[in-house]
Formats: sequence, C-alpha cells, structure tokens
Amino acid sequence: MKLDAIALTKCYGVTRALDGLSLSAASVRVLVLIGPSGGGKSTLLRVLGGLESADAGTVRINDHQLCADPAALQAYRRKNGFLFQQFNLFPHLTALRNIALPLEKVHGYSPAAARALAEQSLSRFNLQDHAAKLPSQLSGGQQQRVGIARAVAHQPEVLFLDEPTSALDPEMTAEVLELIQEITEAGQDIILSTHEMGFARAVGDQIAFVAAGKIEESAPPASLFGAPRSPLCQRFLSRVMRY
Ligand SMILES: Nc1ncnc2c1ncn2[C@@H]1O[C@H](COP(=O)(O)OP(=O)(O)OP(=O)(O)O)[C@@H](O)[C@H]1O
Ligand SMILES: [Mg+2]
Repeated sequence: MKLDAIALTKCYGVTRALDGLSLSAASVRVLVLIGPSGGGKSTLLRVLGGLESADAGTVRINDHQLCADPAALQAYRRKNGFLFQQFNLFPHLTALRNIALPLEKVHGYSPAAARALAEQSLSRFNLQDHAAKLPSQLSGGQQQRVGIARAVAHQPEVLFLDEPTSALDPEMTAEVLELIQEITEAGQDIILSTHEMGFARAVGDQIAFVAAGKIEESAPPASLFGAPRSPLCQRFLSRVMRY
C-alpha cells in the first residue's frame, strides 16, 4: 500500500489525540504502530480506516483521498477490514453467522453466497469445527481468529488491527500472531498496532513509533529496533524490551 498522512489533528475535548501527525509509506505491505499507552495509535488507526474523521490534515491511501463526507467515508470503510482488541463478535450469533451477517448486510451478498463465503473463510483458518459455536463457547484466541476470518472474508483492501492480542494469554497470542503472519504472506496489506515488539519486528515492513499524537520515528524494523534515533523511542524500547 501507499500512504500519505499529513498534519493530522484530532481532539477529544481538550485532549489532542493526534497533534499534527504526519506519516508516509511507499509500497509497504505491513505498517506497524508501536508506542506508549495514550500516544494515539488507536486514534490514528480509526482515522486511517475511515471510522472517524480528523479535525484537520489529509490522508491518502492508495487511490483514496479521505474526506469528511459521510457517504464517501462509509464507502471507503466498506473496502477495509477491522479487528480490535476485544468485543469483536456478536455474542448471540454463531461463528458462522458472525461472518455471514456483515457479508449480507454490509457487502450485499445473498444469504446463500454469504454462508458459502463464511464457510470458506472459516476453513481457510482451520476454524470449520467452530462454525456452530457461540463466541462464549470459544477461547479468546479462537474468538480473535474468527474475528480475523470475518475481517478478511470480503477481501479488504487494507486490514486494520488494533492490538489484536492484548487481551490474550501467551499461547493464544501465538496462535493469533501466526494467523496474522499467514495473511501477510498471502499478500494482505495491513496496518496494525501492537505491544508485542518481537512480532512487530518480525511482521512489519515499516515501524512507526507514535507518542503524544505524533510520529517520533518511522523506519524499517532493523533500523528502528536496532538503532532508534529518537530519544523518546530509545527510552520506550529500552523499557519494554527489558522484560
Ligand atoms: N473516544 C475518545 N474520547 C475521549 N478521549 C479519547 C477517545 N479516544 C482516545 N482518547 C484520548 O486520546 C488519546 C490517545 O488515545 P489512543 O487510544 O489513540 O492511544 P493509544 O496509543 O491507542 O493507547 P493504548 O496503547 O493504551 O491503546 C488518549 O489521551 C485518550 O485518552
Ligand atoms: Mg489503543
């Protein structure tokens, strides 16, 4: 993907979640956002994915110039896929229905085509045995994998993942990270935020360090993790890599 975000500002009351943030990426498959809590990663993901509009600044992703027009933003949003930290699935629907329903209601598939595509998406990730289960009957890791199967079922242009493993224990984290790696290798463009530095380094083509609503540093993983230039980034990495 190609990304040009210029001078983005987003305020919630007096909080400047994005504070003149600029970020560019040229022909990147996986862009990873890291940084301290409250730094603006989730806000940036929501703005880049068209879930929210920035107060000021411009975003261009591939051929889309994002604008504040609700209809255009909705059309753009539909092209993308999303998965957040938790609470992704409808609790009263089976895994299969969770995937089929948005295909029907949002993407305009017939019920039969939506069901077939949902089955295919579950099988792709080896989740077919869980098709008839409710989210409460699945582990956290399985729920997130179903969430990912849903997010990619309509072949999104860009997949946005906001800390997809932060609510999981280490083993479940591993199974979700493996699935994300597999999607990446299949050619899916992804923008994700994570606190898993090992994963960020392994999967990212470009790592952006977000702090206080700005990009402090943005570089390929080898240089950002190997020799970070920003003092803030150095301090952050030396703290989170210590344990
Ligand atoms: N909907 C909202 N309403 C009010 N304040 C918000 C909202 N969303 C984010 N903020 C504030 O904006 C700032 C950036 O938050 P954001 O969630 O983007 O950070 P983050 O980097 O994703 O943090 P974390 O690593 O904890 O997920 C924080 O100060 C947060 O409290
Ligand atoms: Mg966040």
